Amino acid sequence: MKFKQAAALLDNVPHISRHSARILYDFLLSEKPTDCLELGFAHGASSGYIAAALDELGTGALTSVDLESSAEFETTIEKTLDRLNLTSYVRIVREVNSYNWFLKKQIEAQTQNGVCVPCYDFIFIDGAKNWTIDGLAFFLADKLLRPGGWILLDDYGWRYADAIERGKTRSDGVTNRDLSEDQIAEPNIAAIFNLLVAQHPCYTDLKVQDQSWAWARKLAETPAQAGAKTVRYERKSLLRSRIQRWRAK
Ligand SMILES: C[S@@+](CC[C@H](N)C(=O)[O-])C[C@H]1O[C@@H](n2cnc3c(N)ncnc32)[C@H](O)[C@@H]1O
Repeated sequence: MKFKQAAALLDNVPHISRHSARILYDFLLSEKPTDCLELGFAHGASSGYIAAALDELGTGALTSVDLESSAEFETTIEKTLDRLNLTSYVRIVREVNSYNWFLKKQIEAQTQNGVCVPCYDFIFIDGAKNWTIDGLAFFLADKLLRPGGWILLDDYGWRYADAIERGKTRSDGVTNRDLSEDQIAEPNIAAIFNLLVAQHPCYTDLKVQDQSWAWARKLAETPAQAGAKTVRYERKSLLRSRIQRWRAK
């Protein structure tokens, strides 16, 4: 589906601007990812643009994950994709608590002989905007991202402080008063991007767009993955006697 056609049907659906949608759509047409993952779909606007690009490419699939509560939205992702007639490109997953649990299950399913086999070419993290949740999401997503694949984080400059100023006490399930002053003041996604993604030895082509989108590409050749490691489980009593023997030496 052409961008213009998708935009005409998605213009009133939050949360992606036409400008950002164009960037996302053009990126997909040029990179041609086969398997895409979106963490945080809300009403399905960005999912709709991703599906439109896959349709234009004639191939590919999107898995999109959000919370169960997203089924209560007036405009659900199902309605949005239905309007575009692009439902077949998207697998919708709803989790009770977090996409991090979905990622845990995916890693489990992709693990063969103790090694996780990556299965996505593009992962878009656009959910909680929180250091604890999305910092973990990045490391989990990294296990599932194929070498040469792209990761995109939205809300690079977003701060809890700005949401509080607008009168919000909760943002994506996180209660603001439970956060420390410096966590409220600091853009959490920027911290994740600069301290975790940018410093990760396997990521290159780092780019921050419009103080909002942060891109990084996984090296095509990543250091060889270590083979499966054997975990030795010992009974506590056995472990205790080993420690005692070691201390006695
Ligand atoms: C900004 S919206 C996503 C917008 C969408 N990607 C778009 O551009 O149209 C953020 C979404 O992330 C979801 N979300 C936040 N934290 C989450 C978590 N820990 N697990 C799953 N979904 C989460 C929220 O329910 C919300 O629908």
